[in-house]
Amino acid sequence: MCGIIGYIGVRDAKKALINGLQTLEYRGYDSAGISYFTEGNIHTVKTVGKVSCLRDKVAETAGDDVATCGIGHTRWATHGGVSDVNSHPHTAGKVTLIHNGIIENYKELQEELAAKGQTPVSQTDTEIAAMVINDCYDGDPETAIRNATRKLRGAYGFCIMFSDIPETIYAIRNGSPLVAAHTNEGSIIASDMVALVSYSKQYFVLKEGHIAKMTKDEILVRDENGEIYGPTIHHISWDVAAAKKGGYDYFMMKEIHEQPEALRNTVKPRMVDGLPDFSADEVSDDIFKDINRIVITACGTAMHAGLLGKNMIERLCRVPVTVDIASEFRYQNPIIDEHTLLITVSQSGETADTLAALRLGKEHGCKTLSVVNVKGSSIARESDYVLYTHAGPEIAVASTKAYSVQVAVMYLIAFRFDYYTGKISEEDAKHYMSELMFTIDRVEDVLEYDNQVENIAKRLTGANDIFFLGRGLDYALSCEGSLKLKEISYIHSEAYAAGELKHGTISLITDNVPVIALGTQPDVYEKIISNVQEVRSRGARVILITGQGASVDAALCDHQIVLPEVGPLFSPFLSAVVLQYLAYYVAVIKGLNVDQPRNLAKSVTVE
Ligand code: M6R
Repeated sequence: MCGIIGYIGVRDAKKALINGLQTLEYRGYDSAGISYFTEGNIHTVKTVGKVSCLRDKVAETAGDDVATCGIGHTRWATHGGVSDVNSHPHTAGKVTLIHNGIIENYKELQEELAAKGQTPVSQTDTEIAAMVINDCYDGDPETAIRNATRKLRGAYGFCIMFSDIPETIYAIRNGSPLVAAHTNEGSIIASDMVALVSYSKQYFVLKEGHIAKMTKDEILVRDENGEIYGPTIHHISWDVAAAKKGGYDYFMMKEIHEQPEALRNTVKPRMVDGLPDFSADEVSDDIFKDINRIVITACGTAMHAGLLGKNMIERLCRVPVTVDIASEFRYQNPIIDEHTLLITVSQSGETADTLAALRLGKEHGCKTLSVVNVKGSSIARESDYVLYTHAGPEIAVASTKAYSVQVAVMYLIAFRFDYYTGKISEEDAKHYMSELMFTIDRVEDVLEYDNQVENIAKRLTGANDIFFLGRGLDYALSCEGSLKLKEISYIHSEAYAAGELKHGTISLITDNVPVIALGTQPDVYEKIISNVQEVRSRGARVILITGQGASVDAALCDHQIVLPEVGPLFSPFLSAVVLQYLAYYVAVIKGLNVDQPRNLAKSVTVE
């Protein structure tokens, strides 16, 4: 939530900041702004709207300014409406800063400042933070930052400039991510590696509570005690092209197409002699020892990947698995202990609720395993064990390839656990792995369904409500299909376990209400077909997704999408692509910005 960037070096800072913000725009796009040193003073340009509006405003109003040091922000509004004055950067006295996060006690701090006669001009928590730092400042920036942040409660990633210390940026974080790199072109810090990769493939994660002082020549990091700290350097394994659209209209479409590669990159290294194997991840089978239950916790799409994980692990390993929404889990006093394996799933590795759920699990002594896409992210760092998904950067707000690889890792966990406990033979484990690899090839085939799905999508754009139905694995998929559709097309949608429909929701099914039914599971195929008949007889327009050879009465549905032949356990990888396409085309036909749906941000680093 909110993208922040700081740059100091030999490049044109305005350009560097705006280009960097463009790559971070998926984190928030309510407003954008930059501040930079020019002729010894700090100058700020900010505006409501996307980074392109900022680019225009900078060209119009500050085109001639020369700058080599500055900070930039793209906002997802939390406190204070979407307006120019609430946009970042914020200035208070000598302090100008940008912020990603939420200062929870800002009201209290505001009252303290008011008692000293200081009033903010905006409605933001961020301006209060700037005022607190300024209030603590008497010429020593690091002491001011240290003393001020002791007063702040909440999450923050700050980049800060002091008007009397030119060509220098300070940064500190708590909760919100910050990664940094230094090259011979200068120093750069940002919320995400996508903004760094055009400078360097080596980066470090600023640790919570550490302060980075950035100049053109170096980044000096000090820990809480003021001691110089040498951060661990990580390597970005993908290159700059991965963070660009590469000829597609939208990142979402590009990322849908990247799924076969992402899946292969995630599965292949974990296939040793044909068997599922996590030794290269340093995840030993000890994680399965002495556990009597598994809890999977995550948010949104990642939680839906967890639903498939539950289904597979319970089905194959016969161990009870619960899937909890992380924002609920953390406040429900969960029944967990040292015999619980807590699996957190997160693309970004920074989702605030998932991180809090992980910390809670650790407090209760759980073994913790995370399934994360972003290397070195908070969730990855704080978990006992990590299985990285290798999707590369996912830029579109709507998650696609990250979901597929999360599901793949869930399957691998189920296969390995199953094999470890001796419930399946070596031969069966190898068979599952080869079916998984075979399925990944079939994902390529489903990518060819674009025209078919687009034609169906054309008939859905006028709908007010769309329902998704499924049973078992297909129900888990329905949840994801429904989320994808509503988040980018703004059409209300719900996913239902098909058998549950007649316990209330069927009253919403009237003439022409679209129902997307998934019928890929032979064991419940007849059941889902009965449910489809129920909605059909109430006038629903039915789109039915099935495997090969399913017998379907022509009168039962308006459209049938037949998936390539794979084992029924593996069909979710194929249905996922169809449902992603469906959401994509409905949104595109409606003329919506698929990559940046309203009110959303990619990485939810606040509660
Ligand atoms: O980064 P995470 O995987 O932890 O994010 C969790 C959700 O915010 C995320 O999956 C969200 O639901 C998707 N962007 C929806 O497509």
